[in-house]
Amino acid sequence: MLNTLLGGLSPARFLDEYWQKKPLLVRQAVPGFTGVVSKEELFSLACDPDVESRHIRHSTTEWEVHHGPQRPSRLKGKQPWTVLVQGVNLFVPEGDELLHRFDFIPQARLDDLMVSYAVDGGGVGPHFDNYDVFLLQGRGKRRWRIGSQTDRSLVEGAPLRILSNFTPSEDWVLEPGDMLYLPPHWAHDGVAVGECMTYSIGFRTPTGAELGNQFLAYLQDTICLEGVYRDPDLALQANSAEIGAPMIDQVAQMLAAIRWDREMITDFLGRYLSEPKAHVFYEPPETPLTRQRFAGQLKKNGFRLDPRSVLLFADGRFFLNGEAVEGSLPCQSQLAELGHHRRLPATDHDAALVDLLYGWYLDGYGNPA
Ligand code: SIN
Ligand code: CO
Repeated sequence: MLNTLLGGLSPARFLDEYWQKKPLLVRQAVPGFTGVVSKEELFSLACDPDVESRHIRHSTTEWEVHHGPQRPSRLKGKQPWTVLVQGVNLFVPEGDELLHRFDFIPQARLDDLMVSYAVDGGGVGPHFDNYDVFLLQGRGKRRWRIGSQTDRSLVEGAPLRILSNFTPSEDWVLEPGDMLYLPPHWAHDGVAVGECMTYSIGFRTPTGAELGNQFLAYLQDTICLEGVYRDPDLALQANSAEIGAPMIDQVAQMLAAIRWDREMITDFLGRYLSEPKAHVFYEPPETPLTRQRFAGQLKKNGFRLDPRSVLLFADGRFFLNGEAVEGSLPCQSQLAELGHHRRLPATDHDAALVDLLYGWYLDGYGNPA
């Protein structure tokens, strides 16, 4: 599969020559690809209040955006329009599998699978994104024009980011199974040629500001400063409005207790990157198996992470759905395998691992299936 996915390039060569550097067009990256959702399934996701979606209708100059949940009546009409649904991997197991075909990029960089449907002429207009994306064509055709322009000025007052001077240098029509990789900031415009569906495998590229804010929030929950400001040696000040040097020195000393090390950064990153998105809820089994029956199923079927689960690890610490997995961890190599392949094979697993997986099963994080 990898061979066709990257047009015969090895993942190492792709990383070396293309990743975050230049676009790559791959004809028949996924031969025979017809998508993982039907138009009707996509529309029903777009109308679901727990799913993030955008509906965009446009003429050549006017753009109109409606955020979800969509009304079914909006998903028709003659004027060019498109509907884009985020996080399809969270609701459709085949979407999760498609996303994880891109595991030659670390999952810590992965964002989600967005699927769009457009009528003839529909699209989101010429724009650039701040993240890497693989645009895999599902049913129908889409014309992509792209360019490396540095002029990123946007149409003022438009309800979405439209480049005011789009100067494409390439022009391709993608057919089902064709794929285009774009690094961040490449200008692009995809217009449906007849009805079409496009699958965007998107990556996360957190800004320094975002990481800083999140890390500060983490520190706030982790660090507890001791002591109380005291000044039994307070000297008489000539001017009571002055913040005296001894006060500044003492506060500096108190705040110097705010420290972090690499271990805390690892813990923060593991929790932050595995955190479920807003609107994600896990569904514990309604009539759970007993521990004994669970163990039997596990031996027979193996274990599969729920599409909404994210399992990451670093430096021997494991993180699942925004939390660190506590305790002395059994079978680290199996857990690492579960994170990578998202499933464990059917076999006789160690009792401590069965206990851990049983707890995850009860929380709705995975299934013996
Ligand atoms: C799409 O219309 O499916 C892709 C949108 C994009 O260019 O980001
Ligand atoms: Co884009």
